[in-house]
Amino acid sequence: MSRSVASGVVPADLLPYIESDEEACKLVELIDWASLPRHIAIIMDGNGRWARHQGLPRVEGHRAGITAVREVVETAARAGIETLTLYAFSAENWKRPKEEIDALMELLKEYLSRELGTMLEHSIRFESIGRLDGLPEDVQEDVRNAIAATSANDGMRFIIALNYGGRTELVDAFRAALENVRSGELDPGDLDESWIAEHLYTAGVADPDLLIRTSGELRISNFMLYQIAYAEIWVTSRLWPDFRRADLLQSIVDFQKRERRYGSVGGETG
Ligand code: FPP
Repeated sequence: MSRSVASGVVPADLLPYIESDEEACKLVELIDWASLPRHIAIIMDGNGRWARHQGLPRVEGHRAGITAVREVVETAARAGIETLTLYAFSAENWKRPKEEIDALMELLKEYLSRELGTMLEHSIRFESIGRLDGLPEDVQEDVRNAIAATSANDGMRFIIALNYGGRTELVDAFRAALENVRSGELDPGDLDESWIAEHLYTAGVADPDLLIRTSGELRISNFMLYQIAYAEIWVTSRLWPDFRRADLLQSIVDFQKRERRYGSVGGETG
């Protein structure tokens, strides 16, 4: 079923999913399938503006955003991406009107109950990062159930950031370090980058290679501050509800044209 192109083998699972999408089919030919970004993280932005452009309440923008979430999760899983992280609710989003927060929580619950089948079908492992215990009890329960139901899956790791803040994540890691020093489990001299990485919410997950932000804003918004140190940033003016599989594939094509130097000199310069 899989098709050989100049730059590797297109995953068999992806072809039937994109065959009616001409733009996606063209992009698939441009991707080097042997060197995909291992971890793609997305700051989904622009739901409110999308709704305003349509003359709809903000909540309808979030509802339309779910369509984009479904498409991106399925495309990434079929394409063989190892980890996909979506920023769904930040620690700062509690400042929004109560009706909007309630609607977001409801949409998350609906999404989890409707999409569990897709996650199981594609062997997706669902996880969350953020202070889960700050969410309403029923949402926590649904999130924990989805994590448990998919924990034996060995396909793409799909992480949703909920009640997540990059700075609170660092605060939690610093607290863990102090606790460990106090209890004698950690010598301060042994505190290094790998210790910190292993005490972030993303312990055991490779850092994002590609960070996507929609709606054209050039901000990080307190997202994965430690982990994105060397991520390639790709910004599109597309509002999140309009983001489609072709946009994801385009971001991968562009990512593969970047030269990642990690602080060293370029291949040709040295
Ligand atoms: C940003 O748009 C979007 C959010 C804060 C929430 C994203 C949530 C979803 C797409 C739905 C639930 C998610 C999942 C994973 C089931 P904004 O409201 O800040 O847009 P604006 O900047 O145009 O106002």
